[in-house]
This record gives sequence, structure tokens and C-alpha cells, in this order.
Amino acid sequence: MLPQFEVAEITFEQVPGDLPLFFVARWREWRVGVVVGDWKADGVLVIEDLRVEEDILLRRKSLFQCEKRMSLLRRGIGRSLLREVIRQAPRLGATELVGKLAERDLQPRPFLPDWYASEGFKILPAKKVDPPYVKGWIRMRLGPG
Ligand SMILES: CC(C)(COP(=O)(O)OP(=O)(O)OC[C@H]1O[C@@H](n2cnc3c(N)ncnc32)[C@H](O)[C@@H]1OP(=O)(O)O)[C@@H](O)C(=O)NCCC(=O)NCCS
Repeated sequence: MLPQFEVAEITFEQVPGDLPLFFVARWREWRVGVVVGDWKADGVLVIEDLRVEEDILLRRKSLFQCEKRMSLLRRGIGRSLLREVIRQAPRLGATELVGKLAERDLQPRPFLPDWYASEGFKILPAKKVDPPYVKGWIRMRLGPG
């Protein structure tokens, strides 16, 4: 039998390497989400990517082989990843978290600005210097770690 997904069982790991922010969310043996970020300026950490597995193959080899392909969207994984970033960012040396609202993400997911706002981010308009695909920014100032 495949286990029932439980968001409370998610753990986070920093992937070693040069990126200050590269967390993988794991549920049991499966990688269920990822968030990547890099420094933009002193203390300003840009969330470059935040995504949850949309098509995962859950497979167990046991007496009976079980497998199931499923989307893990809308089960609270994105929220728990974002909250982990907010929790860990001051420890990484960040005083501010920012991220672009790109057209390719916003178009299929118009809920993104409201979601980030509900997690405490300010939603800002695109700057004049931004490329056209940037439709806005998210920003959160952080307290000391
Ligand atoms: C954005 C993303 C990370 C959200 O992850 P998720 O695990 O599906 O989101 P959660 O289950 O944690 O949902 C958090 C909240 O977001 C909002 N939300 C998420 N999916 C939604 C949808 N399809 N429609 C409307 N609101 C939605 C809801 O407010 C939700 O809270 P609720 O379920 O209590 O109502 C995921 O959709 C994803 O990987 N998208 C592709 C990459 C991307 O666009 N990343 C963002 C770049 S800025």
C-alpha cells in the first residue's frame, strides 16, 4: 500500500552548493517541492523558483508493487516551503525577501499575488527597467535572525 500524503510529515533539506537558498521538500522518500534563491544585493534574497511536483510517480516495491501517478498541488506543500524560507532567511543573512511575478507563472496562476500577500508579502508593481515579462514584485522585510 502507498502511504497517505500528510503535509505534517514534510521535511526540508538545504542542497549543498553555492546557492544560499536551495531547499528541497521531502515527504518520505519522495522529493515533493523545491525553492531556489540567490543574493540580489547585500541582505536581499531573491526567490528565483518555488514549485511543487505536479506529476509524481509514487512507487513502492514490496510483496506487491504499487504505483500511482499524482499531482501534489493544493495540499499545503507550497505554503510550507514558503514559510520555511521566511523562517530560515534571517539565519542565512537576509534582511529582505523579494521575488518576481512573471507572466508565465501569473497567467496560469492568477491567485499568486493574493497568496503571497496573505503570507505577509507586499505586492509591488513592475519597475520601468524590468523586462516586459515581469508583471510585479513581492517583497518582505525581515526581522533579525
Ligand atoms: C505556486 C505553488 C508553489 C503553490 O503550491 P501548492 O502546494 O499547490 O499550494 P498550497 O496547497 O500550499 O496552497 C496555498 C494557497 O495558495 C492558493 N492556491 C494554491 N493553488 C490554488 C489554485 N489552483 N487556485 C486558487 N488558489 C490557489 C490558496 O490560497 C491556497 O490556500 P488554501 O488551499 O488554504 O486555499 C504551485 O502552484 C506551483 O508549483 N506552481 C508552479 C510554479 C509557480 O508558479 N511558482 C510560483 C512562482 S512566483
